[in-house]
Amino acid sequence: MQVIVGITGASGSIIGLRLLEILKEKNVTTHVIVSEVGKKILEMETGRGIDYVKRLASYYYNNSDLFAPLSSGSFCTEGMVIAPCTMKTLAAIVHGYSDSLITRAADVCLKQDKKLILVPRESPLNSIHLKNLASARDSGAIIIPPLLSFYHKPKSIDDLIDFVVGKILDSLGVEHKLYERWEQK
Ligand SMILES: Cc1cc2nc3c(=O)[nH]c(=O)nc-3n(C[C@H](O)[C@H](O)[C@H](O)COP(=O)(O)O)c2cc1C
Repeated sequence: MQVIVGITGASGSIIGLRLLEILKEKNVTTHVIVSEVGKKILEMETGRGIDYVKRLASYYYNNSDLFAPLSSGSFCTEGMVIAPCTMKTLAAIVHGYSDSLITRAADVCLKQDKKLILVPRESPLNSIHLKNLASARDSGAIIIPPLLSFYHKPKSIDDLIDFVVGKILDSLGVEHKLYERWEQK
């Protein structure tokens, strides 16, 4: 399995990082891109630098590298996850404004009917954000907001993060035990 992972400059880069840790454990091949603001917030919020991301990634690309293979519809992957996804990147995707590798790879996923999973992080959401989220869904994207949930009895922030990452893995079709499923034996 090959998955593209984008990390953009929203709060919550730990979600993208944790996703990469799990995908590496599961031997999933990852193609990773981090936006410029994404790099700074990653360092600020997690204390991890881009070198850590590069160690987790099977392949790492610069966000300005529009000549990377991911820019082409001929590149074969299961799909892409953007976690966290800023409102700016969401807006660019919804309007087909593909001026970076992250937005171009997302555009390619939509046009090729591949999975595009967005983990949008902003609060509160204004009506532009909400319309763009609805528009992304209409275009085929899967929207997984990093929301708090309590039915799995979280005991720590790590449990809450794993719940969101678990939901992403469910969408990708990757097996995991990151959270306990409701009454499933
Ligand atoms: C500390 C910090 C936190 C931010 N958090 C968010 C956020 O949670 N959601 C969001 O949509 N934008 C957030 N932004 C704004 C984006 O980083 C900004 O719109 C940027 O242009 C996004 O670029 P990118 O999508 O290419 O990473 C934040 C910016 C900073 C400096």
